[in-house]
Amino acid sequence: MSEKIVVGRDREDLQAYGDKGTAFIGKHIVGKGEEAHLTTSIYVDVARPHIILVVGKRGCGKSYTAGIFAEEITKLPEDIRQNLSVIMVDTMGIYWSMRRPNEKDRDLLREWGLKPQGLEVQFFVPKGYVEEYEKAGLEYDNTLSLPCGELTAADWCITFGFSQIEPHGIAIDRAVKAARKAHGDAYGIEEIMKAIDDDKRTEQQVKDAVAGRFSAAMEWGLFEKKGTPIAKLMQPGVISVVDTSHYASVSSGWSVRNLIVGLICRKVYQERVISRKIEEMETITGEKRQKAPMVWLMVDEAHQFLPAEGMTPSTEPLLTIVKQGREPGISLLLITQRPNKLHEDALAQADLVISNRLTARADLDALRAIMQNYVLEDIEELINNMPRQKGAAIVLDDNSERLFAIQIRPRLSWHAGGSPSAIKRKGLLEE
Ligand SMILES: Nc1ncnc2c1ncn2[C@@H]1O[C@H](COP(=O)(O)OP(=O)(O)OP(=O)(O)O)[C@@H](O)[C@H]1O
Ligand SMILES: [Mg+2]
Repeated sequence: MSEKIVVGRDREDLQAYGDKGTAFIGKHIVGKGEEAHLTTSIYVDVARPHIILVVGKRGCGKSYTAGIFAEEITKLPEDIRQNLSVIMVDTMGIYWSMRRPNEKDRDLLREWGLKPQGLEVQFFVPKGYVEEYEKAGLEYDNTLSLPCGELTAADWCITFGFSQIEPHGIAIDRAVKAARKAHGDAYGIEEIMKAIDDDKRTEQQVKDAVAGRFSAAMEWGLFEKKGTPIAKLMQPGVISVVDTSHYASVSSGWSVRNLIVGLICRKVYQERVISRKIEEMETITGEKRQKAPMVWLMVDEAHQFLPAEGMTPSTEPLLTIVKQGREPGISLLLITQRPNKLHEDALAQADLVISNRLTARADLDALRAIMQNYVLEDIEELINNMPRQKGAAIVLDDNSERLFAIQIRPRLSWHAGGSPSAIKRKGLLEE
């Protein structure tokens, strides 16, 4: 067996498992500039929960790298694969193409001893956008809707930009309580709007303003009484891609996406806490029972969901996973161009960072905050010496307190995230 570097795995696990349950993400770059060449293969532990941060400037390969992790998880040996699921929150609508093999890079893949390969992907579109998909002739596997009753009055207030102690916030609180009282958890936006209408204590002007927001929220085509069962998104060994790109053009588009991520996080967390108990029972009694697999949740543009400043509807649910996700087995892969804009707890808890080129001083300083055991000058020097090619990055491993320059491997599956070019290639699916 050729030599390997395994990161994100402690000595005990290395002794017990060797390189089982690791992801091949690339090769060590040795030497500077012209002299630089690729040597040892680098593997990352994916069997245990982690918080991985992928940072770097626009177009340097961050979303591409997330795809590498997803690929590797679905290619693990069956006994490990069955215990893991991947949920990718697709803000740009770029991951649908993973089902197709990466034919355009066949030659490059050959140099790496790899072959193009499509993956098992479940593609979810918000229920309200199904018609658009069908009209455009685009494929999807499942629709996504969210249970309205899971949202608190506070979630709605943050989403609509109302303070909870102002009349609008108070009206929302009353309406949500009234809906819950009348229908338990099984209510939709209509029931909230009816409660607003029935509210005798609130001024008409306030009621109109609040009702206006809820009626806009109905247009999102996302909330229902029941919503998609979270187990559908947590399929063993399968990548679930949730396309939220359509909300880019909707006013308050980020808020909608924040609500989606917030609710997915909460449901995944609840589901895994229960599954963890079942797993413990199985260990004690030996009796096998149905349970949800561990989750790798991948979030692009993470600073929009968990910002350094201000609250979003996904802040609290993501922070819960950041702080307490290890025990229920939830991993996060957070992608951002601006680590400086990401919540400090996510920075502090990250145990592995993959950094592509970064030049802004504030962002380099943010890396220092993550990896206090490193000298910033080392990081800067490595970043500056890195070959200027796509997928060249540094890996900071908190487990081993080591730093590596890495060339991320080419993707087996088609990546749709490149910049469009006016020059089309013949015979290949367009980027
Ligand atoms: N490891 C790699 N090997 C080969 N090509 C790569 C690699 N990483 C990235 N690329 C190329 O770079 C392009 C841009 O990568 P990607 O879409 O991941 O950028 P990004 O960092 O996510 O950018 P943005 O911040 O704008 O979202 C890809 O389409 C691909 O062609
Ligand atoms: Mg990207």
